[in-house]
Amino acid sequence: MTVEAIRVSPGWLDLREGADAAARARGLVRQLRRRLSPDGHWVIHDLACGSGAMGRWLAPLLPGRQRWVLHDRDADLLALAAADVPGPAADGAAVAVETRLSDITQLGRDDLAGATLITASALLDLLTGDELAALSQACAGAGCPVLFALSVTGRVHLAPADPLDSRVAAAFDAHQRRLTPRGRLLGPGAVEAAVEEFRRLGAEVVVRPSPWRLGAAESRLAAEWLNGWVGAACEQEGGLAADADLYRRRRLREAEAGRLAVTVGHADLLVLP
Ligand SMILES: C[S@@+](CC[C@H](N)C(=O)[O-])C[C@H]1O[C@@H](n2cnc3c(N)ncnc32)[C@H](O)[C@@H]1O
Repeated sequence: MTVEAIRVSPGWLDLREGADAAARARGLVRQLRRRLSPDGHWVIHDLACGSGAMGRWLAPLLPGRQRWVLHDRDADLLALAAADVPGPAADGAAVAVETRLSDITQLGRDDLAGATLITASALLDLLTGDELAALSQACAGAGCPVLFALSVTGRVHLAPADPLDSRVAAAFDAHQRRLTPRGRLLGPGAVEAAVEEFRRLGAEVVVRPSPWRLGAAESRLAAEWLNGWVGAACEQEGGLAADADLYRRRRLREAEAGRLAVTVGHADLLVLP
């Protein structure tokens, strides 16, 4: 495996599933529905599926029989995905699921042969430029639409504002673009890089915003996100730690009291061959 295996916790995926579902751009699904093959059958490869949230969101929005092939490098998350399968389809048709333990940066054309749709969610910003290029080529080789949801854009807005917001945001973005043994991560540059890559391969690419809008009702998610956001910023910029500690406690108190509104920018991409 060529990737550093930072594991994503099932608790975090569970906590964010509702906000992710509310954020993903439904207009892109309307465009996808027009691409249903004449035999009314989808073969959907979900890359880096985690615990399977993308399928649980998308399968009921698409008409027609569906076979989902769920890829991830984390066997525990794949087991959760297999235990909580999506469906039924929008027209009541059956949805079947199989899981594949795989490194999605190493996929070749054969791995995606026969796909009628390729999806991923919350993935692209974790990749390096070379990994994105290889993945785009593998997807383009399958000749089917590709829906990449929820890539971070780096646009974060907190209300009420705090003088430290922009410094934390800048350090977090630098952390997202950090150099790893695999190369530099794309972080907030992932959307632009993916659009460029797929257009270079001759595909049409549609981009839609899909921000999280976290208010009082999502205060648990906002607090957890905030902890991770400030923690990564401090890891990147050691000098921030002293100021950020007070900042974090102040912001967490606001989130817990339902007095903090957070917008976290994401974008969804639909690639049409
Ligand atoms: C932020 S989670 C998103 C999970 C899921 N798509 C969702 O939206 O809930 C990122 C996922 O990517 C997986 N992942 C990261 N790099 C991978 C790789 N190179 N190959 C396979 N899976 C990978 C992780 O194991 C994790 O499940």
